[in-house]
Amino acid sequence: MPTKADKPGWMMHGITSEPVEQYLYSLLPARDEVLAGMEAEAAKRDIPIVGPMVGRVLHQLALMQSAKTVFELGSAIGYSTIWWARAVGENGRVIYTDGDRKNADEAGGYFERAGVANRITIKVGDALELLSEQKQAFDIIFCDVDKEDYPRAFRLAVPRLRKGGLLVADNVLWSGKVAEKKPAEATTKAILEFNRLLYNSSELFTTILPIRDGIAIAVKK
Ligand SMILES: C[S@@+](CC[C@H](N)C(=O)[O-])C[C@H]1O[C@@H](n2cnc3c(N)ncnc32)[C@H](O)[C@@H]1O
Repeated sequence: MPTKADKPGWMMHGITSEPVEQYLYSLLPARDEVLAGMEAEAAKRDIPIVGPMVGRVLHQLALMQSAKTVFELGSAIGYSTIWWARAVGENGRVIYTDGDRKNADEAGGYFERAGVANRITIKVGDALELLSEQKQAFDIIFCDVDKEDYPRAFRLAVPRLRKGGLLVADNVLWSGKVAEKKPAEATTKAILEFNRLLYNSSELFTTILPIRDGIAIAVKK
């Protein structure tokens, strides 16, 4: 029987068939000891991190954009933050946000160990409120907060992206619940609205990658 270590909570979401998903994970190079330690900790404590397959997508998007500024809504222990921070380079800046001070303290320790603490600003509070205070335009805004807040995050994020910048969001296929005939959950309804907003916006061009739990990538035209 598979154990938590064989199949951590962040791994499977039933979008891709399990053998294909296992194959995709088998391709991934080993992570360094900081990220590997965070993955193990997340599996043990059921912390909902994006995991390495999505982490690589985030990192790759930042490299493709030569991104220097990233705003992250919902950072938990800072796993996805490290994937961004390593991509933006020495002169890049990533804003970490989370509502939980304990998460932020734990994340700070990981940032030091990963050697990227000087690229990351930690902000504790409501991520949407913190984004609304931002005056600069970002290269990338990444949304991974509570799903009911996704439509509001959309409205705050689009004006704060530079032309050519990316709005990226995790969990937009919500374990397949977006395809339910009569979705009942508020979270599913919010994600459906968010996806509609993305695809109907005249300011954005959007694609959803059905990787893990679905990642939306929208570029500002
Ligand atoms: C899915 S986890 C983030 C995981 C992280 N992006 C990663 O992959 O490593 C969501 C986090 O967002 C935080 N959160 C949810 N809604 C929030 C809000 N409105 N403001 C600030 N933090 C929020 C939760 O405390 C939780 O730690």
